[in-house]
Amino acid sequence: MIVFFNGQFLELEEVKISPYDRGFQYADGVYEVIRTYYGKLFRYQDHLERLKKSLEAIKIDYSEIDKLDSIIYKIIEKNNYTYDDFSIYIQITRGESYPRKHSFPSEKINPTVFISVTPLDDASNDNTGIKIIFENDFRWQKCDIKSISLLASVLANQHAVEEDAGEAIWNRDGYLLEGSHTNFWAIKNEEVWTAPLSNLILPGVSRKVIIEVCRNSGIKVSEQAVRENEINSFDEFFVSGTTSEIKPVVQINDWIVGDGKPGKITNKIHSEFNKYVQSKIWL
Ligand SMILES: Cc1ncc(COP(=O)(O)O)c(C=O)c1O
Repeated sequence: MIVFFNGQFLELEEVKISPYDRGFQYADGVYEVIRTYYGKLFRYQDHLERLKKSLEAIKIDYSEIDKLDSIIYKIIEKNNYTYDDFSIYIQITRGESYPRKHSFPSEKINPTVFISVTPLDDASNDNTGIKIIFENDFRWQKCDIKSISLLASVLANQHAVEEDAGEAIWNRDGYLLEGSHTNFWAIKNEEVWTAPLSNLILPGVSRKVIIEVCRNSGIKVSEQAVRENEINSFDEFFVSGTTSEIKPVVQINDWIVGDGKPGKITNKIHSEFNKYVQSKIWL
């Protein structure tokens, strides 16, 4: 598998990262996940803008940022992939510095940049619905940065797996904000609720697309977080993310939501989302 690493296209096995890389030692870096449909990067400008904001927030200067799309297409080409749907992983860390010291190195160092492309299979389109659980939000206060420091998300998602659930939803001070790697949505009286943008959630690109798609098809959206103790007043739930797309929620802890099948409005949003993707107007 050909990947991109620090300016070169290499076989994955050729990539060597120093143990003094600040990503390895401090999780001092950010990442981005983008996907393609029909072989083209979906909502690339939104992903690029978010990556730029994350880099800016942690003061990493990566001068090649505007060449990322051509690098990604080159990786696809070099792998001779015959698929159309890929997930693209981009990780940028502050770089290597020795000796170990918390503050930024005083001399300028080059960021470490790694990009890989993975074909997506059809299993990601499974629409039967998932179970979710809730987890007290023990993350930091800068969840709008797409930081590679993902230990909290790893632990929460592992907890979900151990409970036979597909996702864990963070509860901060009684409010359900987002999932370990998705945004969270609830529907009542035909109105769709999702937490407002703030430092407490990641501004999901799928979230942005879903809001547009809903408004364009006459579905009301309210950017309000759902209180955990009010979930019973909602009829439907789903989560969203770049690779998850739209995943209906059919069970919350032991509660089977509705008839245990994806809800009517969720299905409508899903089909409008698919139509938007198929329309290729985002190209
Ligand atoms: C915490 C969190 N929230 C939301 C999302 C969904 O974001 P997007 O739709 O841009 O993939 C992700 C994706 O990784 C995430 O990690």
